[in-house]
Amino acid sequence: MQNAVSLLGLGRMGSALARLFVERGCAATVWNRTAAKTVPLAELGARVAPTAGAAVQANPTSIVCVDRYAQVKNLLSEPKSRGVLAGRTIVNLTWGTPEEAWDLRSWVVEGGAQYLDGAILDYPSEMGTGRSVILYAGERAVFDVCEPLLSLMAEPRYGGADPAWPNALGSAVVPFLGGAVGGFLEGAAYAHEFQVSPRDVMELLIDRIDVCRRALVDAVEQIEAGDHATEQASAKTFFEAAQAVCASVDEVGHQGLVMSAFCELLEPLLVAGKGDLAVSAVYDQLCARYQSSSDSCSVR
Ligand SMILES: NC(=O)c1ccc[n+]([C@@H]2O[C@H](COP(=O)([O-])OP(=O)(O)OC[C@H]3O[C@@H](n4cnc5c(N)ncnc54)[C@H](OP(=O)(O)O)[C@@H]3O)[C@@H](O)[C@H]2O)c1
Repeated sequence: MQNAVSLLGLGRMGSALARLFVERGCAATVWNRTAAKTVPLAELGARVAPTAGAAVQANPTSIVCVDRYAQVKNLLSEPKSRGVLAGRTIVNLTWGTPEEAWDLRSWVVEGGAQYLDGAILDYPSEMGTGRSVILYAGERAVFDVCEPLLSLMAEPRYGGADPAWPNALGSAVVPFLGGAVGGFLEGAAYAHEFQVSPRDVMELLIDRIDVCRRALVDAVEQIEAGDHATEQASAKTFFEAAQAVCASVDEVGHQGLVMSAFCELLEPLLVAGKGDLAVSAVYDQLCARYQSSSDSCSVR
């Protein structure tokens, strides 16, 4: 197993990852645009590289975790132009889009390096706890070599050769998480008008998490069966309840942004006369609506 790694980008996530490597006995070389962030890691025993190029040169594998893909290209430009990328492996954990992953893979491979794309779905505090997962894609042989190293951060989940996969799956999961957190905050601010505390809202929601899990499982079973008949709640019932929530929120002078978005998602189903179906029918409707654009976005 490789027992050395370079980390480029020491924000909240990159610093947590670098700390884990050092604590787990892996020789880590770190680089960050703002040098002050390297100090706590140097105190733990990490080597500090003066430039991004020196960091890439220091070890066979470099992990990059900065804000955006454009910055990754930018910071790797100097090592690429000096030929430092040749023979190295770049594991990019920066969050972005499938297009950005395709583009960066080509650019890195042009420089003679191997490339894995990754997406982190959890908070820095979850890294190394055994509860977190990081999604990876790229050549299987490259992943196999890196896997023991990557396992020091979180469970590495491999999704195939197409580097778009981590960002595609990540972008599919974030709307749920964003909607849930946004919906909670919107609801808690509304409840505040009635002297109901955020904690009361949170505790009731946590009691309902199993119901939410069941709703996800049911929706997938209905989508896979192509049968959205329901003996539970119809899309029309959901829609009318959501509209009533929007009206309640409106009454206290707030804007129900998350709820309104949910109504907008359901409305075309009702307009199509399918309000008696389960809400899972929205999936088929969305896929049919976007069929033409997905045809032009095939896997590369
Ligand atoms: N934090 C999380 O919970 C979490 C979870 C999943 C995924 N992620 C992903 O992980 C990545 C990093 O997130 P983070 O939370 O660590 O962000 P952060 O704390 O804001 O840190 C951003 C990092 O990007 C660097 N950076 C920004 N612009 C740069 C540039 N032009 N050139 C070079 N470096 C630049 C920063 O360097 P300076 O220190 O010099 O500003 C810093 O190292 C993001 O893509 C994020 O979506 C984060």
